[in-house]
Amino acid sequence: MKIVKCNECGAVFEMVVEPKGGQLPEGFHEVKAGTTDGALEKHVPVVEQNGHKLIVKVGSVPHPMLEEHYITAVWAEFEDGTVEKKTLNPGQEPQVHFCVKHRSGKVTVYEYCNLHGLWKTEFTISAE
Ligand SMILES: [Fe+2]
Repeated sequence: MKIVKCNECGAVFEMVVEPKGGQLPEGFHEVKAGTTDGALEKHVPVVEQNGHKLIVKVGSVPHPMLEEHYITAVWAEFEDGTVEKKTLNPGQEPQVHFCVKHRSGKVTVYEYCNLHGLWKTEFTISAE
């Protein structure tokens, strides 16, 4: 999964199809996880599994969910390359669920903070 940002206007995009040769269009750069000075404990997703449910909290200390500073989205990228996304609004809990019935192996969980960018963690789904 790749997230890209416009150098000029700051708009953030999910890449659906990667460019041939991997070169991004001029004026865009890839957003890398965990590269800002945001607090780790408020941004690194915390993942636990309860049966078929993957519970993702952002983070070990709940992240603010204010109009000016909030978690916009959480993605789960599974071992088979498929990605599921949940979006959040200000005022909601910084927590989402994904169904992992029929899923196994590693999952990379990403979250995007509107001020502090992209963060991720890895988790291994246990078979039920
Ligand atoms: Fe933040």
